[in-house]
Amino acid sequence: MFNTLRQDIQSVFERDPAARSWLEVVLLYPGLHAVWGHRISHWLWIHDFKLLGRWVSQIARGITGIEIHPGATIGHGFFIDHGMGVVIGETAEVGKNVTLYHGVTLGGTSLNKGKRHPTIEDNVVVGAGAKILGAITVGADSRIGANAVVNKPVPPDSVVVGVPGQIVKRKEHRYATTPDLNHGVMPDMIGASVISLMSRVDALEKILAMDHKHEPMQVRDSLWTIDDFAI
Ligand SMILES: CC(C)(COP(=O)(O)OP(=O)(O)OC[C@H]1O[C@@H](n2cnc3c(N)ncnc32)[C@H](O)[C@@H]1OP(=O)(O)O)[C@@H](O)C(=O)NCCC(=O)NCCS
Repeated sequence: MFNTLRQDIQSVFERDPAARSWLEVVLLYPGLHAVWGHRISHWLWIHDFKLLGRWVSQIARGITGIEIHPGATIGHGFFIDHGMGVVIGETAEVGKNVTLYHGVTLGGTSLNKGKRHPTIEDNVVVGAGAKILGAITVGADSRIGANAVVNKPVPPDSVVVGVPGQIVKRKEHRYATTPDLNHGVMPDMIGASVISLMSRVDALEKILAMDHKHEPMQVRDSLWTIDDFAI
């Protein structure tokens, strides 16, 4: 047990550069308090003290703003940064060294009593405000962008952005030993699609102009200027 508690504290130092001392971390990190509250409520839940387990979980929620259902399974090294507004459902399963930011929901989309919440594998990082919905699996070492809505399974080593979440598979496996916190670096899926579409239109216009021997249309090199979106 002490080993798990030590790993919980250690995970704060590994993933929050603002953390300065053990005392500060133990006293002032709501994410850590919520995880410790959950370790107690989960013990009560699996030993069939269900009501007491929910009661402890609600007290932790009142103090931290983080709601973790006592039935959820959480691996060691779990870190919730800032915390407020996080919701983790009853049948959610979270692997080792997972990081969540504030406003994340690991929620369900059905009223089935069985497995209805996501499984998050090891080393996944979930950006602020992201929603992962349904009994889907987010593969190990993946990064979920802030405010993404993920409702389809995510293979390991992926990056997911947007609503609904667009999955980008990384070309190379990172062989990660710690979560990839680079969650500010995200692909622009819509921008990339528009660029691809515009270059195809450009090529087609040139072919048409050659076929019909008339002047090629004036095609700009750049995609757009700020005036294109003036209102
Ligand atoms: C929006 C919602 C009600 C749709 O449910 P549904 O009718 O069963 O629809 P489906 O899951 O079949 O999805 C239909 C399409 O909408 C998309 N979609 C589903 N939910 C979406 C969401 N929240 N945002 C954007 N797109 C969504 C799906 O990707 C799918 O697109 P596709 O046809 O291109 O694959 C549901 O997905 C949802 O978001 N529920 C909220 C759950 C929630 O907040 N839970 C928290 C509990 S703590």
